[in-house]
Amino acid sequence: MSQSLHPAVERALSELKALPGALLPILHAIQDALGYVPPEAVPAIAHALNLSRADVYGVITFYRHFRSAPPGRHVVQLCRAESCQAMGCEALAQHVKTRTGADFHATSADGAVTLEAVYCLGNCACSPAVMIDGRLHGRVTPERFDRLLREAETS
Ligand code: FES
Repeated sequence: MSQSLHPAVERALSELKALPGALLPILHAIQDALGYVPPEAVPAIAHALNLSRADVYGVITFYRHFRSAPPGRHVVQLCRAESCQAMGCEALAQHVKTRTGADFHATSADGAVTLEAVYCLGNCACSPAVMIDGRLHGRVTPERFDRLLREAETS
């Protein structure tokens, strides 16, 4: 069973499975390493933690943070929580969708951008907030978003 597992999955299981409540730390470790939680890892995770596959799938699908497929080359996380709502994040979201061709929790057809909705990036004083490839940006206007994405694409 473990021979076909990605080394990152094997490592997460061996290092973390003894923790109390190990499922979430294991899923985070795998996604941090691979960018997603491969569906083929689910049986091994379930076996290691003495859970059912449905238990593991249930947690992966409950938390929108977890992806079941590889993300695009760039991950855009757009905050839609209260402060960012008040500062126009929905108009920004429309712009981002048009600019990238990606809908929320989907990847653009060219594989360039995965767009995710998040609910507070801890940057409320600088709303609307956007994270691009793990870098946090505040007071993001459509024009600024275009510039930031261009910078990410060329870096
Ligand atoms: S509400 Fe958007 S960063 Fe807090």
